[in-house]
Amino acid sequence: MTKLLVTGGAGFIGSNFIHYVMKKYPSLQVVNLDALTYAGNPANLADIADDPRYTFIKGDICDAKIVAEAMRGCHAVVNFAAETHVDRSIHEGGFFVDTDVRGVFVLCEEARRCKVERFLHISTDEVYGSIDKGFYKETDALNPSSPYSSSKAGGELLARSYFVTYGLPMLITRSSNNFGPYQYPEKLIPLFATNLIEDKPVPVYGDGKQVRDWLFVEDQCEALDLVLHEGTFGEIYNVGSHNEMYNIDVTKAILKILGKGDDLVTYVKDRPGHDRRYAVDITKIGELGWKPKHDFAAGIEKTVNWYVEHEDWWRAIKQKQADYAAWMKKQYGELNKA
Ligand code: NAD
Ligand code: DAU
Repeated sequence: MTKLLVTGGAGFIGSNFIHYVMKKYPSLQVVNLDALTYAGNPANLADIADDPRYTFIKGDICDAKIVAEAMRGCHAVVNFAAETHVDRSIHEGGFFVDTDVRGVFVLCEEARRCKVERFLHISTDEVYGSIDKGFYKETDALNPSSPYSSSKAGGELLARSYFVTYGLPMLITRSSNNFGPYQYPEKLIPLFATNLIEDKPVPVYGDGKQVRDWLFVEDQCEALDLVLHEGTFGEIYNVGSHNEMYNIDVTKAILKILGKGDDLVTYVKDRPGHDRRYAVDITKIGELGWKPKHDFAAGIEKTVNWYVEHEDWWRAIKQKQADYAAWMKKQYGELNKA
């Protein structure tokens, strides 16, 4: 494989993955197709922007013409592009159906036409829904709860159907919650770390006893690289870390690293349809030869320190959010909060 199309590469996991593969494979060319939604940030890849092996194309994966241009000459595709934030999907789900379902269709159609050699589609453990005890296996039924996870389920079912129907060399991963550098500060860990650095309160939903399995993004990149190269076409691979934590304990870990007190913790109304626990069985990807290298303590220390050391990165994002909120307030008054 010499030329790789990455979609959604300006986001959190995509940008970490591009850094990872460009370092690991010195002759690899990478094309990054990204619509630069609010979550896409060219600053994530500023260090490689001028690398002759890297090409950036601004465009939407629902746009067949631009997808055809981006995929031309590519041997493989890795699809990260998605609307990804559960709360936003509860507020306004239409974008999720567009990108997370229709966008996958457009990519699969073009990949079939171009006869790409490999297509890795990134899905999520949220497609299984909540689980009280035990771990979901790849063969378990899907039972998504939110417009986000339902759209992701639709997208991955479509992706797999292209393997069954057309023989498109499809690989699918379902991973647990990632954390690390370059994560947009709307997700739990970067939101809480950056709020706490500024001595602002952090909103814990409900009782804070929901459980997530935290996967450090470097481990995710290794897993994706392995599945891309060694996975069996048509197969689905769970990716998780067995780093299960209550949200309130994640919050306490961040408070401790930053030396802040519990007074900044605010319990707020719960997320509608909030899944209590996600947990996946990682035996199958283990058999390919992968296991995570970071436990939660090591990963959270690295992550929080990254946000401490990269204030310019997240302050620019938070400033944009504040400017928008101020404009909305001026335009429409107090009742219409951004
Ligand atoms: P992110 O929100 O940080 O980035 C998404 C990227 O996709 C952004 O750069 C955005 O501009 C781009 N994008 C959105 N719509 C697009 C469109 N229509 N066309 C082209 N580009 C578009 O997301 P992330 O957290 O890095 O997640 C990446 C992928 O991994 C997603 O598919 C997500 O569902 C999946 N995933 C994420 C996690 C996690 O914990 N973050 C866990 C499991 C799976
Ligand atoms: O499980 C994989 C999924 O993980 C990915 O598919 C999604 O793209 C990604 O956003 C993530 O979904 P979550 O909803 O689990 O992540 P989030 O960071 O939004 O929330 C993590 C937990 O923390 C969840 O139980 C909700 C809670 N939470 C979140 C926020 C933003 C709070 O209590 N307060 C908050 O302000």
